[in-house]
Amino acid sequence: MIIVKNIEELLKHTKNLDSVGFVPTMGALHQGHLSLIKRARDENRTVIVSIFVNPTQFLEGEDLDKYPRRDLADIEICKRADVDILFMPTVESIYFEDELRVEAPAIRGFILEGSRRAGHFNGVLQVVMKLFNIILFNRPKSLRAYFGKKDAQQLALISQMVKDYFLNVDIIPCEIVRDSSGLALSSRNAYLSADEVKEALAISRSLKRASKLVMQGVLDTSTIEREMRDVMKNLDIEYIAFVNRDFKKIETIELKNSTILVACIVGETRLIDNIWI
Ligand code: PAF
Repeated sequence: MIIVKNIEELLKHTKNLDSVGFVPTMGALHQGHLSLIKRARDENRTVIVSIFVNPTQFLEGEDLDKYPRRDLADIEICKRADVDILFMPTVESIYFEDELRVEAPAIRGFILEGSRRAGHFNGVLQVVMKLFNIILFNRPKSLRAYFGKKDAQQLALISQMVKDYFLNVDIIPCEIVRDSSGLALSSRNAYLSADEVKEALAISRSLKRASKLVMQGVLDTSTIEREMRDVMKNLDIEYIAFVNRDFKKIETIELKNSTILVACIVGETRLIDNIWI
């Protein structure tokens, strides 16, 4: 595995590439990331992983310095997962003074996760656009980029950016990885006590309940929401939302084109989860 820390060096190693699988991350890699890397490995000649704690997606007051940094462990994980190139750029090599900005769409970028963290998705899109362009620079035969369905809004916005800006990148949505009890994997699960883990299981149970209702023919979202709230009655629910794959809110479930999203606070920890129907 080659580790590169600046763009010039990356460009030297990305000449004449065939199919490239790219997994952008902010490090502190866990099983969820690993599942993206494995899929990228299976489907492409070259696998590139980036680790970059992107300052522009942290809002004022959010503690960028406290974001977990585990470079040595991450390097080891990538080596074992047979990654070809690990790109770990510095902030100075990615961002410039008074630079041009990519902006999230005014509605889809500012609802749900975007309403709580207004401007967060601007930063995500800004950095993903840069990373895609750096990898596309030497024109690989194909570029597939792998994102988890867990961050469904991020995934929808990146897919929209690729479409709206005519980028030659295939976005590959990857399944949510869950532990044996159904809890969606997240680095935030580490903050949960054993009791809170038990409480948090109501989130995935509520999504299962929703999917069962849909299978029984219940498509009205207010009925489904009522049932989900009942399953999560002991949790502090921030939102339950129903959107189609374009991330527009819906009132009736459209089969194979709907996502049900949940955000809850368990103890002090905010958790999100979703199911694609
Ligand atoms: O999902 C993440 O880890 C980040 O938002 C991403 C896509 C790597 C951009 O910084």
